Amino acid sequence: MSVTVLVEAAQLLTLADGPKDSPRAGPAQRELGLRRGHSVILRDDRVAWVGPERERPATPGAAEIDCRGRVVMPALIDSHTHLVWAGDRKDELELRLAGADYEQIFATGGGILASVRQTRATDDDTLLAESRARLERMRRSGTTSFEIKSGYGLDLATELRQLRVARRLAEETGARVRTTCLAAHALPAELREHADGRAEFIRRICSEILPSVAAAGLADACDVFCDRGAFSIDEAREVCLAARALGMQLRLHANEFGHTGGARLAAELRARSADHLLHLDDTEREALRAAGVVATLLPGTSLVLGKPYADGRALVRAGVPIAVATDCNPGSCALESLAMVLALACYGCKLSPAEALCAVTHNAACSLDLNHEVGRIEPGMSADLLVLATPDYRDLVYHAGSPLISQVFQRGHCIWAV
Ligand code: NIG
Ligand code: FE
Repeated sequence: MSVTVLVEAAQLLTLADGPKDSPRAGPAQRELGLRRGHSVILRDDRVAWVGPERERPATPGAAEIDCRGRVVMPALIDSHTHLVWAGDRKDELELRLAGADYEQIFATGGGILASVRQTRATDDDTLLAESRARLERMRRSGTTSFEIKSGYGLDLATELRQLRVARRLAEETGARVRTTCLAAHALPAELREHADGRAEFIRRICSEILPSVAAAGLADACDVFCDRGAFSIDEAREVCLAARALGMQLRLHANEFGHTGGARLAAELRARSADHLLHLDDTEREALRAAGVVATLLPGTSLVLGKPYADGRALVRAGVPIAVATDCNPGSCALESLAMVLALACYGCKLSPAEALCAVTHNAACSLDLNHEVGRIEPGMSADLLVLATPDYRDLVYHAGSPLISQVFQRGHCIWAV
């Protein structure tokens, strides 16, 4: 048995005071359960005790970590990534910086399709190695739970390979991984010439790809890129209904490029999450709230693409629970540090530091059905937490990008320390 004590944190963010079975919205999203001078005992992979230092039970032989002058908080949960891909699109980055448009590059066969070509042509070991290097950098940046989407295969064999690599990453590193089949990411090049190519691709997704993925137990959820230039509302609905019939949760890329109906569809289908949401009006926000859909904001993508930021304040006012994630992918945003993106959610989406913290912990956990495992620091929860080399969690925003994370614990093991 291994026992570690985190002694007398200046700030311990437990997230333990608000609702636990559901994501937090409105004023509740600011509730961090902040305790001062508290200690935490970790036993094996679990949090065993949390309380004031003076009441701490004796734990002979335990490793003690002095957390005076430090913050202890839950490890980060990245609820939207595309982190299994091969190659890169740094040439496109330079084109975009010189003024080219992301949607235009996509429409002319680059963008997602460039990553599909590279991923299809890469063997499993290389795909795993490239993805693992990214995941390790993300873990060192404080993230120990991940949602990982496929979507750079667009054919059965490669979609399965991507999802298997995602599962392997979990087995090899101990990170928590929820997988999502995003076969409906783009119309593959081989079907673009055919008159009925779109219908044929939707048919393949619904009757071949999703059933095979489900039979192999490779995806917890299904996602569709439902937006201008990608898939229509009707196409997305068809894919989502097929996925739901196979027992998958639903997530949607929605309203990134306009009021394209994706957010309304997410509400209609009671998806776990609607993601991007750069363009939302009051009625769309109300539909998300009423349906209990988590709004997942991806401000790194706005930064990289030079797009507007999602309006976080309007979502808070409307009572919609918010998660924040990196969207880590080879094109629109390859940022890996969720701590950095948390800060962007404040500067860009105008969340408060407390709201953004809840968005990358408890609310992200809820959107992935991981909220009884991670996202709060309470007895029985998994010992996934961070020690920050500062006494004030707001420094994550104030000093965004500085190396503030001094220790990362995943399932009770210190996996990174500086
Ligand atoms: O979430 N919007 C669609 N998919 C990704 C981008 C993927 C890519 O450019 O490779 C996104 O931004
Ligand atoms: Fe995405």
